[in-house]
Amino acid sequence: MIGVEALLARRRSVRAFTGAPVPRETVAAILRAARQAPSGANLQPGRFHVLTGAPLAGLVGQLQQALAEGAPIDKDYSYFPQPMAPYLKARQRAAGYALYQALGIERRDTEGRRAQFDRNYAFFGAPVGIVVTIDRDMGAGCFMDLGMALMALLLAAEDRGLGATGIGALANYGRLVHRHLALPEDELVVCGIALGVTDAAAPVNGFRTERAPLDDYARFAGFED
Ligand SMILES: Cc1cc2nc3c(=O)[nH]c(=O)nc-3n(C[C@H](O)[C@H](O)[C@H](O)COP(=O)(O)O)c2cc1C
Repeated sequence: MIGVEALLARRRSVRAFTGAPVPRETVAAILRAARQAPSGANLQPGRFHVLTGAPLAGLVGQLQQALAEGAPIDKDYSYFPQPMAPYLKARQRAAGYALYQALGIERRDTEGRRAQFDRNYAFFGAPVGIVVTIDRDMGAGCFMDLGMALMALLLAAEDRGLGATGIGALANYGRLVHRHLALPEDELVVCGIALGVTDAAAPVNGFRTERAPLDDYARFAGFED
């Protein structure tokens, strides 16, 4: 095990996996670690529906069918601000370009970009797909708490040598996922997580995203130096 700052520096989103399965106990340990995240009033919001094998294939099949039929977006909530401020749009574009550049997909290649985007709905071929939900009546702070648990999940996976990525795109078909998994009505599909053994040779795993410099997002006052 290594320090958390080193883990944070090493972690990146993984979007291609070897065929190796991930044992149930490993996922359970990662989820227990994720639940160590603090939360306001210790509410511990969020649920994790962990799928592998036939249940994962069933959900992916349903999503792929919806895409093939050109099914309209079927969402319960908006992951992103709408409309998105230009400075955020610029960050989104930069992340997208880095991804498509790693794959050799040209900016004008809308088909290629679409095909890669649709990989979201196959959990990027991961052996484990996690559907993350939260009670519908939770406040914005509870989404933040769940985000901390997701961060802990990603770091715990990294610490065990596994790769993962969040899949906010799953929320676009949140209702479909909700129906397919027969989730209780009070649960909202927040996002997905793809988890597995990183395919280190896959070009899609070979790029790094950048971060805005500290001065862009932090202000310091009262320090002597
Ligand atoms: C909750 C969450 C949802 C995400 N949704 C998607 C997604 O739908 N598709 C995708 O390709 N990447 C998704 N990502 C990955 C982000 O694009 C990625 O974290 C960001 O570009 C920073 O890159 P890095 O994770 O490699 O550091 C998601 C990440 C998180 C944490």
